[in-house]
Amino acid sequence: MEPVLVYLSAMDRPVVLVLDFGSQTTQLIARRVREQRVYCEIHPHTLPFDTLQRISPRAIILSGGPASVYGDDAPTLDPRLLELGVPVLGICYGAQLLAHLLGGKVERAHAREYGAATLTVERPEGIFHRFAPREPLEVWMSHGDRIVALPDGFENIGSSANTPCCAIADRSRRFYGVQFHPEVVHTPRGSDVLAAFLFEVARLQPTWTPGTFTEEAVQMVRARVGPHEHVICGLSGGVDSSVAALLCHRALGDRLTCIFVDNGLLRRGEAEQVLGTFRENFQLDVVAVDARERFLTALAGVTDPEKKRKTIGRVFIEVFEEQAKLVKDARFLVQGTLYPDVIESVSHKGPSAVIKSHHNVGGLPDRMNLTLIEPLREMFKDEVRAAGEELGMPRDVLGRHPFPGPGLAIRCLGELTEGRLEVLRGADAIVTDEIRSAGLYDSIWQSFCVLLPVRSVGVMGDERTYDETLAVRAVTSVDGMTADWAKIPYDVLARISNRVINEVRGINRVVYDISSKPPATIEWE
Ligand code: XMP
Repeated sequence: MEPVLVYLSAMDRPVVLVLDFGSQTTQLIARRVREQRVYCEIHPHTLPFDTLQRISPRAIILSGGPASVYGDDAPTLDPRLLELGVPVLGICYGAQLLAHLLGGKVERAHAREYGAATLTVERPEGIFHRFAPREPLEVWMSHGDRIVALPDGFENIGSSANTPCCAIADRSRRFYGVQFHPEVVHTPRGSDVLAAFLFEVARLQPTWTPGTFTEEAVQMVRARVGPHEHVICGLSGGVDSSVAALLCHRALGDRLTCIFVDNGLLRRGEAEQVLGTFRENFQLDVVAVDARERFLTALAGVTDPEKKRKTIGRVFIEVFEEQAKLVKDARFLVQGTLYPDVIESVSHKGPSAVIKSHHNVGGLPDRMNLTLIEPLREMFKDEVRAAGEELGMPRDVLGRHPFPGPGLAIRCLGELTEGRLEVLRGADAIVTDEIRSAGLYDSIWQSFCVLLPVRSVGVMGDERTYDETLAVRAVTSVDGMTADWAKIPYDVLARISNRVINEVRGINRVVYDISSKPPATIEWE
């Protein structure tokens, strides 16, 4: 993995640094800062001091974390950071650490405080600039330790019944600490606290707009790719690869070649739609490869989910590699890696068990001696959508439900045949159509069908049928990590079932999946 700093230091933009002490909500802090249109980056608390100096942050936020400042191996920070003259906001553990390092006292509270509390604003200054004196503020707490004695130069600016030093400040050094979590929705006016820290305390300007970050990404691509070098991009039609391709196209024009592999596992009309959008609307150079037979042949007789995924990954790499070799002077491969993936790879989380091996172009760059180019690696998903809008991508492409790399293969349980895939495609088109017509598409994270190799008896007209079963899956989710089944109204489910059974030959029973994730997963395989 390339160091995260490669192209950050190249850009002359104000950076807010979020130092991660292991909180579950560190990413949320960064998102809330970005929502204020201020650029920020998350780094582990172990970030070397000289790197930190190179980033030259205009403000620093210390995240919360599960540790206690007195615990063995308690995560800490380089004290030189506190001498830079840069404003600092400590949140929860971050506030305790700030107090501890500057000579205050932190101790274990009698009871852990978890949940809603009311803070009274004692001094409406600095981070409380947007509040009135004595104004009550609903806040969310989650801590075991608390600050009991303030360091020199600090004063109390907010207190709650259980936590007298709930918000502390050293105005001359511009150091602030809050025991509550301003980044979570349960602190309804938390964004006013963060905004005041950014704008009133750190005197930043809200300049990180879709226009700027699109332009910066374009510049970054231009700076990395030499004037005669070519870039290739695997275009799937999904939001990330599409936005990455459009950014590179804006930067390089016809020195970008996209490769679209039709693996025969796409939804009805999808290949035509992707090619139409990118070739005709955007004039991108897209090489379309019809590899349907090749994939189906490789998948013949394969029923094990992991084997399906691995086979698809292998064939994809083969096909892609063959095509990429035909592109003259190709030196770079574009990938739609997003900021959460970058953070994951630098955070100190342990490895988790492989539930499903996700298929993307992993492994390709090494094998083909290509340098990776990742124009979205500083963006969150909502920023990618905003960049897409800025680049003129149609709203229906931007708002599309996620679609897995292995496509319908992992939704057609059991053996894959063209006949069964076609049945699934027919049902899938009906489900998408009904969900859209009911106005539910945008509030649902993902909706799709799963064809089960389970046959049951039915009756159609006067005839006995003995056909397969369709499971309909629709979930709500924020990021795909956890999900709940969508409460689709009965009449919509009734219409879906009715249409599928009447219009799609090969299915005579429709069931609705009501499992949440966890314990289930979103895709069935
Ligand atoms: P699961 O099934 O793991 O899915 O709960 C979480 C999200 O990831 C998508 N998904 C994939 N996306 N390649 C992808 O690009 C894959 O192999 C893959 N498997 C699952 C899934 O659709 C959901 O949005």
